[in-house]
Amino acid sequence: MSPNTNAPQPSTDLADIRARLAASGQSHLLHFYDQLPASKRAALLAQIASLDLESLPALIEGYVRRAPKFELPRDLKPARFYAHDASRIPWDREKFRHVGETLIRSGKVAAFVVAGGQGSRLGYDGPKGCFQGGAVSGKSLFQIFADNLLGAMDRYSVRVPWYIMTSPLNHDATVDFFQKHGFFGLSSRDVMFFPQGVMPSLDMTSGRVLLSSPGEVATNPDGHGGAIRALHVSGALANMKSRGVEHVSYFQVDNPCVRVLDPVFLGLHAAASDSSAEMSSKMVPKASPEEKVGVFCEGDGKTQVIEYSDLPMDLQRERMPDGSLRFIAGSIAIHALSVDFIERLATDKSFALPYHRAEKKIPHVDLETGRAVTPDANNGVKLERFVFDALPMCKASILLETDRVEEFAPIKNASGADSPASSRDLQTLRASRWLASCGVHVPTRSDGQPDCVIEISPRTATCPEELARALPSGFTIAPGAKVAL
Ligand code: UTP
Repeated sequence: MSPNTNAPQPSTDLADIRARLAASGQSHLLHFYDQLPASKRAALLAQIASLDLESLPALIEGYVRRAPKFELPRDLKPARFYAHDASRIPWDREKFRHVGETLIRSGKVAAFVVAGGQGSRLGYDGPKGCFQGGAVSGKSLFQIFADNLLGAMDRYSVRVPWYIMTSPLNHDATVDFFQKHGFFGLSSRDVMFFPQGVMPSLDMTSGRVLLSSPGEVATNPDGHGGAIRALHVSGALANMKSRGVEHVSYFQVDNPCVRVLDPVFLGLHAAASDSSAEMSSKMVPKASPEEKVGVFCEGDGKTQVIEYSDLPMDLQRERMPDGSLRFIAGSIAIHALSVDFIERLATDKSFALPYHRAEKKIPHVDLETGRAVTPDANNGVKLERFVFDALPMCKASILLETDRVEEFAPIKNASGADSPASSRDLQTLRASRWLASCGVHVPTRSDGQPDCVIEISPRTATCPEELARALPSGFTIAPGAKVAL
């Protein structure tokens, strides 16, 4: 599948661009223009023409010159959720599994991964989806998700389309990777790539847009919240509608344990009495009050995610009588969204998600000397939109609790927490749980952790019940073994 390229192009006329730059206080972007060769001049004009310069003065005032202030809703309370242990707070898991399976089987669900991020914390040279995330196989994250879809297609006898949001900075490398690997066994007709938008990167002191080289503006992808518009503008939404897709299963590129299509979650999203079937989310209980994840809350009559930095620590430390955290619902960035909801937002001229400000080290060109600068301290501001800010735009939104070990093994950092090593340990822990429930003895070390590395391909199984059916009889694991199933 290929994206829509019929969008109207803005003027690249030099006089028009000069006027727009002057009006937005960014004339310095043409500082080196006269010294550039003709091809680079044209590329710079085309790049500047594509930027929303008109919105910059207000953004610079509101996010760079002044730090934005977050106001907590007065009636803030923790969000309610469907408990993982349905015997504790009863709800009918099997009923919603059936609804979700029917939706998947009838081709009404698509997979959607946001893969446009820069992955700067991991420091991997390439799109993060190409990173070898498989604990034993070393399969790329993209291949693990493809395996997940191939498994679902076998189980439900259906073709499931997969939409992949890239950014202009990693689009070609992502498409090349899929082509080089034969789409991992998927049909290229079922995989659609489309780039998200970008924002100019801003100097933290002056608010001026930075140049990454004399002929190029420094930009950053506009955040995973950019997905709402990008899905529409690219033609991906129209493609979904033409295929009869009604809901998308949204996930991030960095989590190899995600269940790409979870029937229970999709069923709840589509049919729970307190869901508007517009946008739903999964959560895990926070590991500690200090854990740096956004928290699902309710306020002003809406479900919303509040960033950990915006939620006062005394609230994050509050406990329930049973000792559990009161604000417990940590976001793991797994959502289900209806195609109608995305379309309603994306085609509404007044729709805008708020920006979030992130301070970063942004390489750039010094305007005085023309030299490249690689800063060792934060010098710039990136403005990004977050997809969870669409939650308050729903009429009603449900939240499903899930088990951290079952579904969350993110690869964000090069080492320590949320790294390839911690993800490998979590993949092994989950696999050893599933194997133990199938009656397989998993060797352990003296600290009780598995004395082996295990990876279960989602093509083989996405839950213990599927594993029990797939496991060869007499299966054993030797201490220290590396096992890929
Ligand atoms: P992160 O918040 O981890 O950001 O993205 P990142 O840019 O990938 O990594 P760092 O912060 O530079 O280390 C979470 C998810 O959102 C996607 C990422 O690809 C990842 O799947 N994302 C993020 C986008 O698709 N676009 C963006 O603009 C930002």
